[in-house]
Amino acid sequence: MASYIGSATSRVDGRAKVTGEAKYAGEFNVPGLLHGHVVGSTIAKGRVGRIDTADALRVPGVIDVLTHQHRPPMPDNDAAYKDEVAPEKGSPYRPLYDDRIVFNGQPVALVLAEDWETARFAATLVKVEQQGETHATDLHAQRDKAFAVEKPEKPRGNAAKAYAAAAVRHEAEYFIPIEHHNPMELFAATVIWDGGGKLTVYDKTQGVQNVQRYLCGVFNKKSDDVRVMSPFMGGGFGAGLRPQYEVVLATLGALTLERSVRLVLTRQQTYGLCYRPATIERLALGAKAGGTLDAITHEAIAATSQSEDFARNDTGWADLLYKCANTNLVHRLVRLDLPAAADMRAPGAATGVYALECAMDELAIALNLDPVELRLRCYSDRDQNEDLPYTSKKLRECYRQGAEAFGWDKRNPQPRSMRDGSELVGWGMATGIWEALQMPMAVRIVLTANGHAEVACATSDIGTGTYTIMAQVAADMLGLPLDNISIKLGDSTLPQAPVEGGSWIAASVSHAIVNTAGAVRKELLRLAKKMPGSPLAGAKLEDVVLTGGKIVSKQDASRAVPIADAMRHGKTDRIEQEKTNSFKDVGAYARNTHSAIFAEVKVDEQLGIVRVTRVVNAVAAGRILNLKTAHSQVMGSVVWGIGMALHEETLIDHNLGRVMNADIAEYHVPVNADVHDIKVIFVDEPDAIINPLGIKGLGEIGIVGVAAAIANAIHHATGKRVRDLPITLDKLQAA
Ligand code: MOS
Repeated sequence: MASYIGSATSRVDGRAKVTGEAKYAGEFNVPGLLHGHVVGSTIAKGRVGRIDTADALRVPGVIDVLTHQHRPPMPDNDAAYKDEVAPEKGSPYRPLYDDRIVFNGQPVALVLAEDWETARFAATLVKVEQQGETHATDLHAQRDKAFAVEKPEKPRGNAAKAYAAAAVRHEAEYFIPIEHHNPMELFAATVIWDGGGKLTVYDKTQGVQNVQRYLCGVFNKKSDDVRVMSPFMGGGFGAGLRPQYEVVLATLGALTLERSVRLVLTRQQTYGLCYRPATIERLALGAKAGGTLDAITHEAIAATSQSEDFARNDTGWADLLYKCANTNLVHRLVRLDLPAAADMRAPGAATGVYALECAMDELAIALNLDPVELRLRCYSDRDQNEDLPYTSKKLRECYRQGAEAFGWDKRNPQPRSMRDGSELVGWGMATGIWEALQMPMAVRIVLTANGHAEVACATSDIGTGTYTIMAQVAADMLGLPLDNISIKLGDSTLPQAPVEGGSWIAASVSHAIVNTAGAVRKELLRLAKKMPGSPLAGAKLEDVVLTGGKIVSKQDASRAVPIADAMRHGKTDRIEQEKTNSFKDVGAYARNTHSAIFAEVKVDEQLGIVRVTRVVNAVAAGRILNLKTAHSQVMGSVVWGIGMALHEETLIDHNLGRVMNADIAEYHVPVNADVHDIKVIFVDEPDAIINPLGIKGLGEIGIVGVAAAIANAIHHATGKRVRDLPITLDKLQAA
């Protein structure tokens, strides 16, 4: 029987999605549903004064207006508001809690009405007095106030001394602005009042159990009283890892009025949730004349809110990727009057590796070395920090296959040396790296005698293809056709799962499926052996596989028992098993995914307009479960990398402390016309150590390094180095 694992299987939920059968958080309807609309602050810092709701309440159809002065009690301790992804240090934001305004656009009132239009209209009639205080939203202006995060990474050797003694040096500062997640699906929650204080909550979230526990904490509910569902999600990218205020406010409304409530945030309001923090990155690289690194200093200064210390690993990649005896890595934070920063696809790496890989390009030029050659001279086969081998690392193959597919050997290293009519042509490259993380989770399989299996776990599918890869793995492990597998996920009552993030779900859930399917096989073998004259009488568990609807001896395929026969004979209608994944050799190996990105740009010399005409991204991420969904993940990441390089930037008016381009007309993302030829290569990377199927996950690796490859290509085309993202034509003309 054909193996589903590794094939280019189409999404099992594809039809439901394109026909509208798949329902999202804001689409669940019940009779009597109320609709909310949020009134936001218009200052960045200060206090809420008098709130006049009289006019709003007079509008027919308006039921109530909740404010911090008019709401049921909420807990007054941080612990109640901590979720599993909250930063260790700090106080999580409490929606509609008190009169303090801590960011512009913060919810100060929630209008609840019979329909959405009424709620939205009435919200314009709510008068909110606000007393402003001096705010700060500009990272550059506040950089001197940066403080180091609690556990700075350990230095190796003496980077300052080695840098001073280096034959060739490069030092520069790079900048990544605030970027906002813009999933197509708006943030929304529909809270169904089930009576007796029980709630069914449909929320746009990457983690139903995280939201479930959080709501129980914030509203002092028993676990059985709150069920959180998120069967489908129209993109998350990290914005849905933590519970956002839409679910708190919708729940507050439902509990206050004892009615079902839906709250859908506007696109503008999603710019008041969270963001990738603006980050200043300083790199100082010192090399020996032969092109090996001897000194790496990487300092990052990132934005965070006043109350939470959100920090991700920006600076810990250089010393992992490249051999170097002397390293100094420092991460600092600046408190600004903004919402808390958050994870966004490859948090830390997308920004830190952008700076690192541009700096490596600049060092290669200073050394008069090909940029690929420099990376090969510094190549590290072991994790140097912990002196560990990798479970697998095929980055050399990424460089080789990527360069070959791109035609890198035809590159003239001289900037401005390549042309196509009126356009300058540039070729640049970069390395990408991400973690191959795995998290504890459980899977339940119910196999019925008709040869159908239901595979269930509480993970989300944020659009990555989790339904599909779960079905593929289960079909192979149970020896059943794909159509006989149904997947249940996105429901907090299902077996435990972490938030879907960190690229860890594919590896974690497939491992749990392998273990659970193993338990099902054990039960089936037990039944098969009890049959009179069983051809599997003496067989051991490890000697049989499930394939083609049968339990089959590995040694002799003619010794087989149909699953249906074994179950019928054992008078068993259903076999139910639930197992977790299991971890071996934790701490004995480093676990990472890698990539090499090659980009071609064409730059109009007069106008400075940049087109990214070709990108090759060669990825080594263990065994690929599904060539189609994996390709989509990496292709989407590359598109985002183009946006990061050329378009994306949240602009804050620092006088008002307010986002000025809070919609996708003004916040630029790549459109079809910006996206040309993208080639994704999966380098063969067998991994017998990381987990039973050799899966590493690739939700995030695809974006890492892309912006650097494009920035390096722009330099190669024009001879101009723009280190501040995005590389817009004004910056290019000025450089
Ligand atoms: Mo991802 S930024 O862990 O959703």
